Amino acid sequence: MQIYVPCDSAALAVGADEVAAAIAAEALQRGLDIRVLRNGTRGLLWLETLVEVETPAGRFGFGPVEAADVPALFDAAWSPGHPLALGLVAEIPYLARQQRLTFARVGITEPRSLADYIAHDGYRGLRKALDMAPAAIVAEVTASGLRGRGGAAFPTGIKWNTVLKAPGSEKYIVCNADEGDSGTFADRIIMESDPFVLVEGMTIAGIAVGAARGYIYVRSEYPHAIARLETAIALARHHGYLGTNVLGSGRAFELEVRKGAGAYICGEETALLESVEGKRGIVRAKPPLPALAGLFGKPTVINNVLSLATVPIILDKGAAYYQDYGMGRSRGTLPVQLAGNIRHGGLIELAFGVTLREILYDYGGGSASGRPIKAVQVGGPLGAYLPESQWDTPLDYEAFAGLWAVLGHGGIVVHDDRADMAKLARYAMEFCAIESCGKCTPCRIGSTRGVEVIDKIREGTQRTQHVVLLRDLCDTMLNGSLCAMGGMTPYPVLSALNHFPEDFGQADTSQH
Ligand code: NAI
Ligand code: SF4
Repeated sequence: MQIYVPCDSAALAVGADEVAAAIAAEALQRGLDIRVLRNGTRGLLWLETLVEVETPAGRFGFGPVEAADVPALFDAAWSPGHPLALGLVAEIPYLARQQRLTFARVGITEPRSLADYIAHDGYRGLRKALDMAPAAIVAEVTASGLRGRGGAAFPTGIKWNTVLKAPGSEKYIVCNADEGDSGTFADRIIMESDPFVLVEGMTIAGIAVGAARGYIYVRSEYPHAIARLETAIALARHHGYLGTNVLGSGRAFELEVRKGAGAYICGEETALLESVEGKRGIVRAKPPLPALAGLFGKPTVINNVLSLATVPIILDKGAAYYQDYGMGRSRGTLPVQLAGNIRHGGLIELAFGVTLREILYDYGGGSASGRPIKAVQVGGPLGAYLPESQWDTPLDYEAFAGLWAVLGHGGIVVHDDRADMAKLARYAMEFCAIESCGKCTPCRIGSTRGVEVIDKIREGTQRTQHVVLLRDLCDTMLNGSLCAMGGMTPYPVLSALNHFPEDFGQADTSQH
């Protein structure tokens, strides 16, 4: 019998290693022939540790399992009648209703096994790419409609084309794995649960634009992701998928992991490049774009984990297959990360077009507290707060822009009716003050003044004047900041003020 126990951080945090050890020990004691395999997470985080037993009908799930539950599960012979039984995992509605393209293998395969990756369609994209001319690979990615999943949604193929056409023979691929947004974990899940897909995506990018070296910049708070990537890179190199002669094609591509030191601003692409170069993470002025003068001043593709991890399926199944999902100019799928005050938090990959309300209730099951949901912040700490009146908006880059909101990296953080929106607005300014790189005045000074002004509003000191001042300050930060850190902090602040004026001691004067 084969039993799967996930080895992703979310499962490890609730005792997955202890569960795996308990299963192995119990099997030994009972003289049963059981193989314990370590898969990635399915992303159904409230069910961790989600143990899966291989059956002729498919994998049968039990969860959430703790080490102390293991003897009773053996006593019951892992029967479907056990109180922790969940049914066939693939049929759990939360999972069955998703459209997993980027996350197709996540939770199914063993992240430390190259053979398992290949057995589940791994490296088919690279093999196809190696038979194509570089411009044809770039054209395929462009035709898929893939846009940068780090948050800015810039068309990936157009970025690659700029690098392909840039003069010079020394070019780089850099993966932004400094996932710093509150409530986000999709990059981490890819790296911990299916690291080979990122390695393959970066290799395809290198072959496409003529770059022979890539760097994955991972935040140091992700030790398991770093270890998984190191293992995947070593295995890929050993089996000829990386190196001076990738799969005998005569083309070279090498990869290295670089650890960040925990600064949010190092997720901004130019600060990240500075950090990879060994310098302090300070934002560079653009232009020049990294695509023309990036790492070490050379043309550089810099993409988020999710963008690069989506490339293999596009090459494998074709641009038309990927482009068939989605709505409007938002093609393909968005891996939504549902967190905060929600019953069923986790990873939900769906085609663009699903509404926030469906995510919150059909998948999330409402708030964890059982109280009404008041506001959701979409797109990380620099994303807007959306009130209930906006939850029927489809998840689509343009629809969100129309609400003066962003989808960002797909993080959704839920707050119930006890949330004090003025306090959350203050937090946004404080976050900016702490994380600002200090290069430009609107962000460095503006965020500190912003905290003070919101404090005055919350105290009730000359409220009306201070609200005017806060709006003015936000305007300066929006228009005068060098990067998104200072430029987007007004999103959470103004959305809180506009949609929840009562929390700022104001009458409802919504400026939606
Ligand atoms: P941006 O709009 O300046 O650029 C987007 C990307 O397109 C960049 O890589 C840029 O170099 C590239 N680009 C633009 N024009 C190009 C051209 N003609 N040719 C080739 N490449 C071109 O946005 P930025 O400042 O890079 O990112 C801001 C976004 O980051 C925000 O919208 C926010 O949602 C997101 N963000 C994500 C975080 C995360 O943890 N994933 C954290 C903080 C912000
Ligand atoms: Fe640095 Fe803030 Fe200016 Fe960005 S907006 S360059 S983080 S000071």
